[in-house]
Amino acid sequence: MAHWVIIGSSRGIGFEFCKQIVARGDSVSATVRGDISRASNLWTLAGSSDQGAQGACRLLECDVTSETSINRFTQDLALIHGPQTSLDFVVINAGILKYPNFIQRLC
Ligand SMILES: NC(=O)c1ccc[n+]([C@@H]2O[C@H](COP(=O)([O-])OP(=O)(O)OC[C@H]3O[C@@H](n4cnc5c(N)ncnc54)[C@H](OP(=O)(O)O)[C@@H]3O)[C@@H](O)[C@H]2O)c1
Repeated sequence: MAHWVIIGSSRGIGFEFCKQIVARGDSVSATVRGDISRASNLWTLAGSSDQGAQGACRLLECDVTSETSINRFTQDLALIHGPQTSLDFVVINAGILKYPNFIQRLC
């Protein structure tokens, strides 16, 4: 069983990643920015997994624009997994696709 970290899991592609990871039997540390208690879709996913919220899908807070938040997230991750933290895959998905953007200027 692989363990994934998906940064930016509240919606869109990040949330879809989390759904598919749990469905295939892997586990995920899913991050949202702001209050994790408001991430109702992820809590539903965590509750629907066999291992529950503390198993296949764990929720953590991380705002990639805040160094304080990133540091707290890495500490929380280490606390959850213990000193021998081993992550198989990390997806830095958080971001905003703005229009117009550089690609459109090239086309
Ligand atoms: N969809 C596409 O066709 C497409 C194409 C090319 C590239 N991408 C890239 O793929 C990624 C995901 O796309 P998407 O369509 O799933 O986007 P989306 O629906 O807008 O979701 C973006 C995710 O990133 C999170 N996020 C935004 N700013 C953040 C921050 N400062 N700290 C932590 N999390 C943050 C959002 O959280 P909140 O809910 O808190 O805002 C949300 O979970 C983006 O990087 C996007 O640029 C998407």
